[in-house]
Amino acid sequence: MKSKQLIMLSLLFMLGCTTAKKVTSTTITEPQKTPSDALAQGKDLYENRCAKCHKLYAASDYNIQRWPRILNSMQYKAKITDQQKELILSYLSNSIKQ
Ligand code: HEC
Repeated sequence: MKSKQLIMLSLLFMLGCTTAKKVTSTTITEPQKTPSDALAQGKDLYENRCAKCHKLYAASDYNIQRWPRILNSMQYKAKITDQQKELILSYLSNSIKQ
């Protein structure tokens, strides 16, 4: 009887370990995905929202000190949220670095 309980306990323990492992592996892959997703979203927003009234400016047309001010003045025109503005800004600054 006692040994059966022990086996059950160790089985439960092993199960606990496998689920814990799964959780850690997803939390590790998540942060790697997010930056490129955000950049893709920023690129998408930039290309779709910022070329309606004029040509699409190249990221390198302005330096990284200028872009936040430009985006602030274009935000209302492009009808984008603060969060979308941040996504566009990180896409632009990433493109300038390359
Ligand atoms: C509703 C029309 C409209 C939309 C949408 C729009 N713009 Fe503009 N943009 C303008 C006009 C008009 C000007 C020129 C006059 C001015 O600077 O306000 C301009 C000028 C600019 C300039 C030149 C600024 C300078 O000082 O040389 C940049 C860069 C620019 N826009 C970027 C963007 C970006 C980035 C977006 C997307 C977030 C965007 N625009 C969306 C109308 C728009």
